[in-house]
Amino acid sequence: MSPIIAPFPAARPRRLRSSAALRNLTREHELSVNDLIWPVFVRDGEGIEEPISSMPGVVRRSVDKVVEAAIEAHAMGIPAICLFPYTDPALKTEDCAEAWNPNNLCNRAIHGIKAAVPDMAVMTDVALDPYNINGHDGFVVDGKILNDETVEALVKMTLAQADAGADIIGPSDMMDGRIGAMRSALEAHGHQNVTILSYSAKYASSYYGPFRDAVGASGALKGDKKTYQMDAGNANEALRMIARDLQEGADMVMVKPGIAYLDICHRVKKDFGVPTFAYQVSGEYAMIQAAALNGWIDGEKVMLESLMAFRRAGCDGVLTYFAPQVARILNG
Ligand code: PBG
Repeated sequence: MSPIIAPFPAARPRRLRSSAALRNLTREHELSVNDLIWPVFVRDGEGIEEPISSMPGVVRRSVDKVVEAAIEAHAMGIPAICLFPYTDPALKTEDCAEAWNPNNLCNRAIHGIKAAVPDMAVMTDVALDPYNINGHDGFVVDGKILNDETVEALVKMTLAQADAGADIIGPSDMMDGRIGAMRSALEAHGHQNVTILSYSAKYASSYYGPFRDAVGASGALKGDKKTYQMDAGNANEALRMIARDLQEGADMVMVKPGIAYLDICHRVKKDFGVPTFAYQVSGEYAMIQAAALNGWIDGEKVMLESLMAFRRAGCDGVLTYFAPQVARILNG
């Protein structure tokens, strides 16, 4: 598109900015409650909401409290909630068997939410890190992360989540071949309508620090995730990952982290035109909250501006810890 602009003073771009009414009429992108997926942390126990120090304002909830939160989120119009379990360290093993236990924390939370608010879409995370004694997303043997054996385990995990009632499966592990394997297994087990939102372009990022505290993986993690998550210097590779995951049967794709990777979001939406999501990750949330709590920025305004950036870049929606706060503001 080549914009036609008359010479000054025939064109005075400030005319369209001169009142709130004209700005509202001519705004190109809007942020809506419909664009939000709310990531929440689940822990065991009852009646518990436990603060996470590196994510001020975010808590780990016991299943009953997650269900309450989902009911509130649904009432505010948030379409989807995404579950992340904080697993009891005693249940973390090398074989990660808790990951596909039909009664694990995550699967119990799915049941609870679907029973209370069936219309709320429940998204899950598929990766072994919450259950792995060494904090990695895949099986580790002799210091190497195994690919194909991990994919088999992820398929078992996916089926357990789908059986529990998950609507959106979110593979965040970055193993090769996982999307195809999950899709065939879902088809074979009667889960034709379970969707896959693939973390297709997931970077090995330092912005995940607070999340690893939240799920209790920080202490466990040995080394880094650079042999499976992407290098921050790559952009074309992200497009190849998106193409591959779509070919294997992903319904929606994700770029992660968010703000530092908006160029990728933009290229993905432009090249593929598929439902595209970004994850405004824990470190992004923590930075905004920290500056806001110090009185250095207006937290509410920066939050809204940061989320509008995802819409402008072409994202259909955003996973954000701010979801309930944003929804409250957007609902007036
Ligand atoms: C685990 C997973 C991570 C996040 C989502 N799923 C962390 C990681 O890959 O180490 C990060 C989310 C966030 O930082 O908010 N596979």
